[in-house]
Amino acid sequence: MRNTDFLWGASTSAFQVEGGFGEGNKGLATTDTRKVPEGMADTKIAADHYHHWKEDVELMAELGMKCYRMGFSWSRIMPDATMEINEEGLAFYDQLIDALIDKGIEPLVTLYHFECPQALVDAFGGWLDRRMIDAYVKYAKVCFEHFKGRIRYWVTVNEQLIATAAGDLNGNHETDPKQSLKNVYQMSYHVSVAEHMAFNLLRQIDPIAKIGPVCSIQVVYPLTSRNEDAMAAWQAEEIMEFSLLDMSVRGRYSPFVTHYLKAHGLFPSVREEDDEILRQTVPDFIGVNYYFSVCAKKHEGEINYHQPPFWINDLYDIVANPCLEKTEWMDMGVDPMGLRIGMEKIYNRYQLPMIVTENGMAVSEKLDEEGKIHDDYRISYLRAHIEQLEILEDEGIPVFGYCPWSFMDVVSSHQGFNKRYGLVFIDRTETDAKDCARVKKDSFYWYQGVIKNNGIGDH
Ligand code: BG6
Repeated sequence: MRNTDFLWGASTSAFQVEGGFGEGNKGLATTDTRKVPEGMADTKIAADHYHHWKEDVELMAELGMKCYRMGFSWSRIMPDATMEINEEGLAFYDQLIDALIDKGIEPLVTLYHFECPQALVDAFGGWLDRRMIDAYVKYAKVCFEHFKGRIRYWVTVNEQLIATAAGDLNGNHETDPKQSLKNVYQMSYHVSVAEHMAFNLLRQIDPIAKIGPVCSIQVVYPLTSRNEDAMAAWQAEEIMEFSLLDMSVRGRYSPFVTHYLKAHGLFPSVREEDDEILRQTVPDFIGVNYYFSVCAKKHEGEINYHQPPFWINDLYDIVANPCLEKTEWMDMGVDPMGLRIGMEKIYNRYQLPMIVTENGMAVSEKLDEEGKIHDDYRISYLRAHIEQLEILEDEGIPVFGYCPWSFMDVVSSHQGFNKRYGLVFIDRTETDAKDCARVKKDSFYWYQGVIKNNGIGDH
């Protein structure tokens, strides 16, 4: 990279690494209360970062990280529906943030990464209710004021797409599939209003700090060269990605999305005064999470309600790309060029700086006889994606950081602990947390060289 301030980092989220269940007066989050299939790890111990954080920061420093993309657990900071501050929760993050700063590692903190305080779901249904907007703003205010001057990069919400689509995470347990889909769009609208209020609030509290959303970028190719499939792919990206990013940046849906939502009875209920809130602020940057691309073809037949909510529609059907190589956990295939295609489109539309906040390869891994993980496949995956970023930089597109998912192995969002993405191995199984010992994988040493070199070069 030519930018010598490039933020080479790595990523995690609170519920996927912390553990510390019920410790330090932490309240319950939806990720604590949801039912986990028998034999699969839950979040009670996770990677036990709550007890290993000092060692983890040492490892981050050894890796040479310039930035750590992490999350706060809302229910650790505000355990119940009274929204009273839990000083012990803040103290946990104080020591972690201070230790990072001490090592010269820039914290980039996500306020809301999938987990919702269970107390707020119980009290009024979470994001489906407008009261959640005020609750979120109250929480954001506490964080902005408390960490003013220490945290210079904030993320409002991680992957609005998944945060609103996954009912086990947001408490939307509606069983009627049509109503459930309507709820997703309503929740998403509330998230957008809350997000803009947070942009505005941060600028008043800590004008030096920067804030933005993290988007799960959706790179959709037409399955064939038929014009109907090209249209389906365009519509899929508009609905699955740009309907959300347009709200984050422009504060409104595009004409196509507005028409689509209205024609399908999915347009959220809005208030007139929201318009001003939505249009008064623009984020400072866009965080990009990217794992794979997909294909779309023109929709045919009955609507399938048994698929991810944003795939449910009468315009397009999402399918895997037959041209891509698939792996054990990456059933849509691996497509480094998709990262560049997706980021080109985002930049052309919004002209905002971008940072890759997640990108990684999941593999089931076990220590070999020598107690090592030789993950050359992960090295190839990361190298191929970083190469695409270097091309973006050569073109003059402002990409200011790269944070692979994940710094260490974490509990997957839905698939337990066998699905490992980390640069650091966590010695535990699905059902036996053992001592969660930390073991550096080959990819750790390789990435350490990339950071030292400020890019791939001949590395
Ligand atoms: C992203 C999330 O969607 O993908 C992470 O922000 C998640 O929280 C990551 O872990 C990988 O997905 P999964 O389902 O394999 O954990």
